[in-house]
Parts: sequence; structure tokens; C-alpha cells
Amino acid sequence: MCGIVGYSGKRSAQEVLLNGLEKLEYRGYDSAGVALALEGGIYVVKSKGRLEVLRRKLEAENLPESFCGIGHTRWATHGEPSDVNSHPHSTPRVSIVHNGIIENYGPLKADLLAKGVTFESETDTEVLVKLIDYFCCAQPKQSPLAALREALAMVRGSYALGVLFRDEPDTIYAVKKESPLIVGWGEGENFVASDIPALLKYTRRYSVLEEGDMAVVKADGIRFYDAFGKPVEREVLTADWDEEAAEKGGYPHFMLKEIHEQPAAITATVSPRVEDGMPDLRIPELSDEKLRSIRNIHLVACGTAMHAGMVGKTAIERLARVPAEVDIASEFRYRDPILDPDDLVIIISQSGETSDTLAALRLAKSRGVPVLAVVNVVGSSIARAADYVLYTYAGPEIAVASTKAYMVQLCTLYLFAFRLAYARGRLSEAETRRLTAELLRAGEVIQPRLADCEQIKYLASRFVNTQSCFFIGRGFDYALSLEGSLKLKEISYVHSDAYAAGELKHGTISLITDGVPVIALATQKQVYEKTISNAKETKSRGARVILFTTKNVVVPEGVADYVVRLDDYDELLMPLQLIVPLQLFAYYMAVLRGCDVDKPRNLAKSVTVE
Ligand code: G6P
Repeated sequence: MCGIVGYSGKRSAQEVLLNGLEKLEYRGYDSAGVALALEGGIYVVKSKGRLEVLRRKLEAENLPESFCGIGHTRWATHGEPSDVNSHPHSTPRVSIVHNGIIENYGPLKADLLAKGVTFESETDTEVLVKLIDYFCCAQPKQSPLAALREALAMVRGSYALGVLFRDEPDTIYAVKKESPLIVGWGEGENFVASDIPALLKYTRRYSVLEEGDMAVVKADGIRFYDAFGKPVEREVLTADWDEEAAEKGGYPHFMLKEIHEQPAAITATVSPRVEDGMPDLRIPELSDEKLRSIRNIHLVACGTAMHAGMVGKTAIERLARVPAEVDIASEFRYRDPILDPDDLVIIISQSGETSDTLAALRLAKSRGVPVLAVVNVVGSSIARAADYVLYTYAGPEIAVASTKAYMVQLCTLYLFAFRLAYARGRLSEAETRRLTAELLRAGEVIQPRLADCEQIKYLASRFVNTQSCFFIGRGFDYALSLEGSLKLKEISYVHSDAYAAGELKHGTISLITDGVPVIALATQKQVYEKTISNAKETKSRGARVILFTTKNVVVPEGVADYVVRLDDYDELLMPLQLIVPLQLFAYYMAVLRGCDVDKPRNLAKSVTVE
């Protein structure tokens, strides 16, 4: 949801900013822009469209070298994607880049208009820059820092800001409220960024701004002030991701690379939490005794992470017999959920910054309910606000469509379910050990699915012109239907719906006509015959059926046009194997349809607005 960068140092600011923006483009790509400190003042270049357009524009400008500047890549909220609505927003004295939303921009704008200030864009951000500028010129004359503080005191909403003043051409002011922001520490140069990948080419040392923090970033140092303006120190962390982890590494797309990184991500996530063959959460406060006292579990997340929660719910209920509910974070936060201090809320998030998910976490905490977060980004807002954290170790996920992060969310939830069930006496030690060993070899189990990509590519070629399709399944297979369907629609723009297989005949089957693709998932012994019957019902009405099932299932004649076989594996863990061909199917459909796989239209990877 918008990426911001800032730089002060000895290199070409233009180059550093463009490189950083390239790494942050996953956050939004409606437009991009930079503001550079030059001899005669601040020079702004911005444009609608991808970063490439900005790059070409900058080349044509052939500007003198600048050593300090700010940059932005936008996911439009207020105002359509256009040159004029692009960031940075500026006056001759000050230029800003912003990620977030200024909620009271309407009344602030009205006040400024009444004072004779004029506006050219529809954005909330322009209101903020004009407000800062207004205080810069106030009498008696204010320092840039004082003007910035005064303007921010009037603003409601969320923001990560990078601010550059004409009168301090070597300094970036970075401010954070409810939107992520970090600073990077170099030698004789320092950085500002929304996220770690933007820094990795130059440094792995960074500090995370806390709520209300302001950082004053110069080439020779960074000073921090807390929300009350008091000078503070912030811890210096070292990223364990290297630059290569955020590069395509020979793959045509990040998504394909990330799909193939799943075996390694599984090992990295599961191995550290297995001790002597038993699952070990390594959270002393979540002792077996504590796990025994949990009454209900609420799994709360958005998008793909929420789909991971659905698999987690089924595993928890099946193994541990603890009631578990899955909630969409944006619903949970406003529906006054019934929560008890003996409950546990599990928050799931790749980025750790999703605004609705963070709000759901805060709601749970305000009701005195302990929160366990399953998060991929160390030091992210969700990780810091939760009581306990189970980090997933997927490494940086750049493609907007989540694949490897989902995979390790599943693994983490399985591990949690195993320990919970064992602690509550629902799983014997021998069975817990067996399941843990099965989970440990999941990376190996999915290897053949990665190798089978030609088969999936062929299937995609058979369905490439389809307008609309359906995924059906029961239990775990239903949860996977939802995720397979989401992957397909978000990147290939094929309309797709997922249904619990038994629900299809209660309405949706009326949409099945000649040639409509139905992707039936039948990997669970107890119900696969039922799902196969449902697939047959659609086939009888003209559907083209792809059936995903396991090796030894006998598929009756006339049920499916294509059958994709999975290897034998513990049924409970089958989602780990099944998701791979579904990811690949969406991927190849998108490639064959000529879509921008890693950056699908209108989406952003990190959604830091409601
Ligand atoms: C966005 C992304 C999805 C992701 C969801 C939740 O919609 O496009 O891929 O699943 O946000 O993100 P999180 O970082 O909280 O897992």
C-alpha cells in the first residue's frame, strides 16, 4: 500500500531511490515519483504508471547529481492514478511522500482554501504538504521541524511520511503513525524505507520506527524522537534476508520463484520448532498447562492468510477438539465478537502490517484476550503488538499473490495444532511424533508436484480462454478451493468462485452450462466419493471437469475430463501437497493470458488502509 524511500548520503540519490522503489513496487504501482534536493531547490519528477515510465522521464531530464531525496510508489486511495495525483506532493519549500490516509483532510482543506491556499490534486497528501508549508511561513518564522510537528498535531489518520525541506537539503524527516516505516544505517549514508528489501543493496542494518516516532535522517547520523518529541534511541537490527532473496534469480516471475522456494521455506519454518521429534512452540508462556486452559480459538486474518486460518481451524478442531472460528479481520473488528479471557486469538499475516488485521489484534488485546501472531516479517507491527509470536520463515515474498507465505502459515498452524492436541491428551505421544515427522518431510512430498509443472501448464492451455470457473471441495478441500480460486482470479482475471461441494446444488449449479470448467478437489477419504458425485452432477450438465485426487482413488467413467493425481501422504497434511498444482494452475493461466503475474491490476501486497 504505497512504498516510500528516502536517502541522504554520498551516492546518486536518484539511483538509490529508483532502486529502492523497484523493490517496493509490490506495495502499489499506479504511479511513481521522486523529489531531489538540488542546488536551486527541490526538483520533483513524477508520473502515472509503472516505475519504468518514471525512469525514462528522469533519463530525459538529465538532472545534475543530487545526494538527498525522497521517492514514492503509489496504490491510489484518494484520487485516480494520474500525474497530478502522484507523489511527492510539494510546495517550493517542502516536498512529502506519504503512505496512509489523512482522515480529516476535508475540513483541513476547507480551512486552507479559506486562507487562500490553492490545490491541484484530489489527494489527502497535498492537504498535508500545504499545511506544513503554511506553518513554515507562519509568523514568527518556524523551523522546518516545528512546522512539521505543528501540522501533524492537526492531522488524524495513518501515515508513514518522508519529508524534504528546501532549507535543509541534506535531511529527510521520517514520521510514522500506523503505517510501517524503517530507517537503514549505512557508512556516511542513511536511508528511509517502507520495507527491508528497499535497503538490502546498501545495508542490512535497520531500525524500526515506533508509533508516533520521528527520525531525522542525515548522511552522518539518525536522531529519533518519540511521540512526545523526546529524544530516544531505537534498537539497530540486522536483516537476515540478503539482496539475492529479493531478486528473481533466473525465474521469469517472482511468483514462480516463490512457488519453487516452498520446500526450503517449509524446512526453515518447521525444523527449528521440532525438539527430539516433538513439536515445540518455543514460547514459554504457551506451556502445555496454558494450552490445556484454552476454551475457544479465533483465527483472524485477511485474504490468503485467512484461507490458511481455515485449514488451521479444521486441523485444530479435528485433532484437539477445541472450538475454533475463522474470522475475516475487517469483519471481526466491527462485529463486537464474543471473546473470553480464556480464549486465544491467532492472528495470521505475511506482512505483519495489514491494517484490518492489526486492528483486530488490538481489539482482542483490549478485551484481555491473549494473542498469538503467525507472522513472516520480523519486527513488523503485528509481531510487536502480539503477546506471542510464531515467526514463519518464508523469506521475502515479493509477488503480490501469496504462495510460500501461505505454505508456511499452514505448517505453523499444523505444528500448533499438534502441540495443542498433545497437551490436551487428544493425541498420543507416538501419534504426535508420527505427524511431526510427516510434516517435516512435506518439502520432499511437494517436490514431484513442482516437477509436474508441464502437466499443469498443459491443463492451463486447455482452459486459457475460459470466462468463469468453479472450484469445489469438502472440508480441507473446501478451504483449498477458496485459495485455489482466489489465486486464479487475482492474477489471471478469470472470474472464479469456490463452493463447498455439497452446496453447489443449492443454487450455483444453475450457472453450470456447456464447457464451464469445474475444478473438483477430492483428497479426503471420508468425503471424496461425495465430491466425486458432485463433480459428476456438473459433468452431466456439460461442465469440463478437472479432478484433483490421490493416487489410488478409483474415478468412475465419465466424471472428469482430466485427473491430476497426488502422491499418498497423510490426509491431514494433504493441503500442503494439493496447493502446489493449484498455485501453478493460476500461474500458468495468468502467463498464457499475458497478465502481469507479479503485479496484478488494482492489488497491492501490503494493505495498510482499511
Ligand atoms: C493482500 C495481499 C494478499 C494477502 C492479504 C493479507 O490482499 O494481496 O496476498 O493475503 O493482503 O496480507 P498479510 O500480509 O496480512 O498476510
